[in-house]
Amino acid sequence: MNSWRKACEEALRAHTESDGIRFWKLSHPTEAGLRPVFDYRFEHTLAVVKLARWLAPLAGADPEVVECAAWLHDCRKFLGDVQSKDSHAMDASKVVPGILAGTDFPADKIPAVRHAIERHVGLRLAHPLSPVETACLWDADKLSKIGAASLVHFVAIGGAFGPVDTAGILEKGERWLGLARTITDSMNTEPARQEAERRLAFLIAHYGQLRREWNDPMEPSIP
Ligand SMILES: [Fe+2]
Ligand SMILES: [Fe+2]
Repeated sequence: MNSWRKACEEALRAHTESDGIRFWKLSHPTEAGLRPVFDYRFEHTLAVVKLARWLAPLAGADPEVVECAAWLHDCRKFLGDVQSKDSHAMDASKVVPGILAGTDFPADKIPAVRHAIERHVGLRLAHPLSPVETACLWDADKLSKIGAASLVHFVAIGGAFGPVDTAGILEKGERWLGLARTITDSMNTEPARQEAERRLAFLIAHYGQLRREWNDPMEPSIP
């Protein structure tokens, strides 16, 4: 029997690498073959997996369900996809049984993985999610968007969408702070809420420092 983690990672990588090269319109030859300039989707997923491994035991969730859902939650999401109806959660859920077939993942846990994946979207919640595995995936996915690694990912993928400069990064980052507050207020689990507060404080300090560095002393400051 194959390892479910290996199967998830390989299925994810097969999607993210080809999608990354398509979107960047650029690739680098490496010993492992052509690679996109930055495989944003894979790196984001790694962040979510690490958070899932941390959060699941603290929240009392099934660690296999949460980690498996983390690996596959965005495995059918495409860079630059701005369709009015975003179906990437349902699309990912549909391919879960096929990816896990023939692996050592317990078949009776697959419905819980799919439930979590189908409900991981959105940046705010009107009501807490349940069961706890579904709540943990939402929290891990959103925490990944407000940490130090999220800054690395945000800057590294920026050039794929168009030219980037420091002022633009700063403006977008400052706008993101409002949504980061909303995300923090929507956390389902207490450990994630506390971590979100720490990360939000870091982001506020980071962009405050960048603003101080990038304001031009020759220009009058806006009161
Ligand atoms: Fe997603
Ligand atoms: Fe995600």
